[in-house]
Amino acid sequence: MMRLDRFLCESGFGARSEVKTLLKKGLVTVNGEKAKRPEQKIDENADTVVCRGQKAEYAAFIYIMLYKPAGVISATGDRREKTVVDLLDTEARRGVFPVGRLDKDTEGLLLLTNDGELAHRLLTPRKHVDKTYYAEISGKVTEDHRIQFLKGLDIGEKKLTLPARLEILESKAHSKIRVTVHEGKYHQVKRMFEAVGCRVVYLKRLSMGTLVLDPSLKAGEYRNLTEEEIKSLKELT
Ligand code: URA
Repeated sequence: MMRLDRFLCESGFGARSEVKTLLKKGLVTVNGEKAKRPEQKIDENADTVVCRGQKAEYAAFIYIMLYKPAGVISATGDRREKTVVDLLDTEARRGVFPVGRLDKDTEGLLLLTNDGELAHRLLTPRKHVDKTYYAEISGKVTEDHRIQFLKGLDIGEKKLTLPARLEILESKAHSKIRVTVHEGKYHQVKRMFEAVGCRVVYLKRLSMGTLVLDPSLKAGEYRNLTEEEIKSLKELT
């Protein structure tokens, strides 16, 4: 059993305040009876709820793949800055939060969900979920750096970083690389390059565990995860 307003929010009919208005306007029925009280208890598995003529299909959790653009912060709300949740339509919000953080100037794959348990399992340091980034670097990235990344780097923490796989795509004064890390420390990739005397000038996350950024998404666009993607993330953790 759950409150009718929560049920409607989680079924994608908007935020609490919007749902309240729909109820007040008499646009919601439960088993054919007009329902006006947000606190009315309903059985999400048995009752038929219709809102604006549309049957509400309850989906407890939502999983969104966002191509985070640079310039927005990985938070749910902020008084001054635009957040990743601000990029979503109202129906897509439904209490979602970003799973981990990308820096304001970092682009790429960000998972948003309201499934706290999966988020926790993906973020817990014990699981070492792989994250792969594409980066452009001010400085010549060399084979020697690749070996240092593999051995682990001192980025000012108690322990060295876990072995990271560095793939050099272009080794020039301005280098291009792909790197896979198995942990998620604050500014991790930037600090790893600083530790070898280079500087990250562009950073984009390509994948997290089994989830790969959909190449058809443009910066700022998002889509729901497929059943397959959800299943393999759950299996991974
Ligand atoms: N490493 C960083 O330095 N920044 C990010 O946003 C992600 C990983």
